[in-house]
Amino acid sequence: MKHRYVYIQTIGCQMNVYDSEQMVNLLASLGYIPVTSMDRADLIIVNTCAIREKAEQKVFSFLGRLVKLKRKKANLIIAVAGCVAQQEGQKILDRMPHVDLVFGTHAVGRLPRMIQRIAAGDGPIVDIDMSNTITAGILNEHSTESSPGVSRFVTIMQGCDNFCSYCVVPYVRGRELSRAPADIIREIKHLVACGAREVTLLGQNVNSYGKKEHLCSFPELLEQVCRIEGISRVRFTTSHPKDLSNELMHAFKDLDVLCRHIHLPVQSGSNRVLKLMNRKYTRESYLEKVDTLRQLCPEIALSSDFIVGFPGEAPEDFQQTLDLIQTVEYDSLFAFKYSDRPNVPAADFPDKISEAEKTERLQTLLKAQEYYTGSKHQTLVGTTCRVLVEGLSKRKTETVGIEEVPNAQWSGRTSSNKIVNFSVDEHACLAGDDLTGRMMDIKIEKAFSHSLWGRPVDGKTDLSDAEGENRYHAA
Ligand code: 5AD
Ligand code: SF4
Repeated sequence: MKHRYVYIQTIGCQMNVYDSEQMVNLLASLGYIPVTSMDRADLIIVNTCAIREKAEQKVFSFLGRLVKLKRKKANLIIAVAGCVAQQEGQKILDRMPHVDLVFGTHAVGRLPRMIQRIAAGDGPIVDIDMSNTITAGILNEHSTESSPGVSRFVTIMQGCDNFCSYCVVPYVRGRELSRAPADIIREIKHLVACGAREVTLLGQNVNSYGKKEHLCSFPELLEQVCRIEGISRVRFTTSHPKDLSNELMHAFKDLDVLCRHIHLPVQSGSNRVLKLMNRKYTRESYLEKVDTLRQLCPEIALSSDFIVGFPGEAPEDFQQTLDLIQTVEYDSLFAFKYSDRPNVPAADFPDKISEAEKTERLQTLLKAQEYYTGSKHQTLVGTTCRVLVEGLSKRKTETVGIEEVPNAQWSGRTSSNKIVNFSVDEHACLAGDDLTGRMMDIKIEKAFSHSLWGRPVDGKTDLSDAEGENRYHAA
């Protein structure tokens, strides 16, 4: 088979990362090999995100830059996938005539056929049919090297039925659809055989996994996944607070392999705003769940998403959000300025907040959180953390202010999702080894705003099992 090259630019969430991997696996059947340089590519796919206006602008500026490349290489195929493709369809072709293919979130499985048609001169094509199918679990049996990484994403369901008033996801990803447990397990076993040690199960709201299709519950699925041989760590995202069940909260106590971290997006600390957002829980019921989680699993790390400047968010509402951040003391958080999306109810809400005000609130919120992230990192200095090594550190040195930390060759994460970079300079027995995929005990020596830094304890690594890895050990 003649080899061709595909370059995929992924913008957006983990689900898009997963979908891009599925595209690579599907295209392998046509002889496509993924490349990291656009100049070598015969096919460029931009997998897009529509969640906020900024992400969407990124798509169009990226596409604009491809005009030159297309002029140089007449046979180059340019495709747009994902949520913006689903949302805009034909309009993308009208605005960007150098694009050959626009395919939506339910059309991934049809990609090879569409590429063949375009190569045969039958383009351009727009396919945004929402066919009620999930394209997932496409394995690349031939090439284990093309699926590297100890930490992998696995989509277990797609779509969302919640219709939060600001959110475009139900429109661009469609209704909730869950995959059969056997299919998910088969895929994870394959990933483990290719070197994965950690999986993150993905869904817009994993708590409603399988309900519609009368499959097993999400905690039951988790249990099955945690039992897979060779899996050291299991994570999941995202969990809607209104549906966080007692059964799922107990899983953090009962399943050793389940990482001690939950992302529980609250969006706002004001009941009035939560109602406008159609979130269907209150500040009080959210805080109750946080308490229960911490009672069941005291070491659990918590993170959240926040939207600032939602239409009608008064200064008192924002104050409530700041107050909630101080009450919960999150390990980390993501915060976004509210942005109008096409067709969502909030786009027509009155009392829009000015851009300047949104910026100010965002900065205030991030500043408030800085203290908690910093102090949580600081408390880990001097302790030993179990780290799953994911690969070489992106930066060999980390400069913070005037302080420079030397030789952070390797990088991994703790069960609580904290990034740990470490050096093996003083461990001759580890020098030259590929530590990727190993579970290592790292003594933390320094804390930074986004990461920790340390050295292995006695150069010790654990290749055997997951026992105790989810716990911190006091020094
Ligand atoms: N504006 C700003 N942020 C948004 N999010 C979703 N929709 C919007 C919007 N219209 C944020 C939410 C969600 C995260 C993935 O993106 O916080 O949890
Ligand atoms: Fe969007 Fe709400 Fe669904 Fe999350 S739960 S994807 S915020 S509609």
